Amino acid sequence: TLRRLGRSPARPINPCIRKDEKKVMDAFDIEDLMTRLEPGQKVSLCRCWLSEKWPYCDGAHKYHNQKNGDNVGPVNVYRKKA
Ligand code: FES
Repeated sequence: TLRRLGRSPARPINPCIRKDEKKVMDAFDIEDLMTRLEPGQKVSLCRCWLSEKWPYCDGAHKYHNQKNGDNVGPVNVYRKKA
């Protein structure tokens, strides 16, 4: 898989988030999350590992994309408007 992605196995994807843990994994209860959002509101979850508000996106991916010619971005979860 690493060969297919063109990545060196020695290059970490995660630069600084929770490095003391063997594996960074989180789980969200989608129904609980939906009760925290107003209708039409969204939550943006970081996929670039560079956010200072991780696991939420803070826009750091834009700088990364400009600097590296990349195209990463968050996953947005919306609550439908009523
Ligand atoms: Fe990581 Fe936006 S800051 S996806």
